[in-house]
Amino acid sequence: MSELIQLHDLFFQPFINKADIKKRVEEMGRAIANKYQGRNPIFLGVLNGAFIFAADLIRSCPINCDISFIKLSSYRGTRSTGEVATLIGLDIELKDRPVIIVEDIIDSGKTLDTFLPELEKLNPASIELATLLTKPEAREYPVTIHYTGFEIPNKFVVGYGLDYNGLGRNLRDIYQLKDV
Ligand code: IMP
Ligand code: MG
Repeated sequence: MSELIQLHDLFFQPFINKADIKKRVEEMGRAIANKYQGRNPIFLGVLNGAFIFAADLIRSCPINCDISFIKLSSYRGTRSTGEVATLIGLDIELKDRPVIIVEDIIDSGKTLDTFLPELEKLNPASIELATLLTKPEAREYPVTIHYTGFEIPNKFVVGYGLDYNGLGRNLRDIYQLKDV
């Protein structure tokens, strides 16, 4: 895996290969299984980016659990608070259940900063966060992450669920934007 790929107008170079992703996701699944054995947690995947990671993570976590997905739709509110995120697609009762949010990547942290208070209103027993990737240098809003796959530099990445303007989600490896 040494080849550059092109998506729209940009070139990307290989960054994390599928074998390394698989190994790390399996470790994360085992860690979550150890903690949640017997507690029947709900994995809550954040669409679209987390769909592949979520599928692999729960298959690496051999305990009884539910999985559901949510989508966050942002819009400009009329109030000065600006952007508001609403949850769509939540089809399972979270009350008194342990919830594990499954994210593809935590960048500025804004998405979770807006969305966590919404989830807390539903009174789950607990909330933890599992993310495949995090870019600590990009953080603008504090986020507590409980399970991290890889810490990466503040450069755009695609593949394994992550896209650039719609393309690249189906790549098995993760690629990083190539400097020009
Ligand atoms: P945040 O709200 O800034 O933390 O952004 C989180 C969301 O932005 C992620 O769930 C992704 O959908 C998207 N995102 C952030 N960085 C990247 C990247 O490098 N590649 C693809 N999508 C990204
Ligand atoms: Mg996302």
